[in-house]
Amino acid sequence: MGLYRRFLAPRFVDTICSPKALGAWRARCVEDLTGHVIEIGFGAGRNLPYYPDSVTAITAVEPSAIMRQRGARRIEAFGREFHWGGLDGQRLEVADASLDAAVVTFSLCTIPDAQAALRELRRVVKPGGELRVLEHGISPDPKIARWQHRLDGFEQVIADGCHLTRDPVEAVTSAGWTINSTYQRYAPGPKPWAYFTSLRAQS
Ligand SMILES: C[S@@+](CC[C@H](N)C(=O)[O-])C[C@H]1O[C@@H](n2cnc3c(N)ncnc32)[C@H](O)[C@@H]1O
Repeated sequence: MGLYRRFLAPRFVDTICSPKALGAWRARCVEDLTGHVIEIGFGAGRNLPYYPDSVTAITAVEPSAIMRQRGARRIEAFGREFHWGGLDGQRLEVADASLDAAVVTFSLCTIPDAQAALRELRRVVKPGGELRVLEHGISPDPKIARWQHRLDGFEQVIADGCHLTRDPVEAVTSAGWTINSTYQRYAPGPKPWAYFTSLRAQS
C-alpha cells in the first residue's frame, strides 16, 4: 500500500464525510433502530452522535487505524457498549444471527466486494432484522452517469478505492435482502458524487 493510500487518503476521505449537512441524512439512516447494531466501514464514527438511545451497543468494523483513531472521541462520547468486530466487512468475526440490525454509510462504494459484505451482514443479523444503508452511487441521469464512469478511476486513486458507479439498491437486493423503502435524490454538491440513496431492508 502506498504512502498516500495509507496515511493521507483516510484523512481526505474522513474530511469529505464530515460536513454538518450530512447530519440529517445520517440521522434518518439510523432513526428508530434498537438493540445491538453492527456498522461496517465505520470510518471515524460519524454516525455515532445520531444513534437513538434505544441502540444499546455497537459492533464496528473498520480496517484503517487512522480512521479508528479519529473516531476515539466520538466512541467515548457515545458512552454505551462498544466493540471492535474485526477489520474486514467481507469476513465478519461475528456469530450467526447474533445482532439486531446493520448499518452501512458511504462504504459500499469502497469495500472491494460490497456484495460479500452485505451477505455477511445478512448472516450475522437476526432473522427479520433490519439493514440501513446510506450511500452515493450511479445517477439515473445518463449525462451524469457518463461523467461518473469517466471519473471513476481517478476517484478510486484519490479516495481510497471509492467507486462512483456502484448501484446500492442492486447490491443490497443481489445479496438477498428485501428492500422495504428507498429514498433517492441529489444532495447538495457536484452531481457525480451527490446522487444519494437511503434505504431500509430486512433479512
Ligand atoms: C467513505 S468512508 C465512510 C466512513 C463512514 N461510514 C462515514 O459514513 O463517514 C469508507 C470506509 O470504508 C472502510 N473500508 C474499506 N474497506 C473495507 C472493508 N473491507 N471492510 C470494512 N470497511 C472497509 C474505509 O477504511 C473507510 O473508513
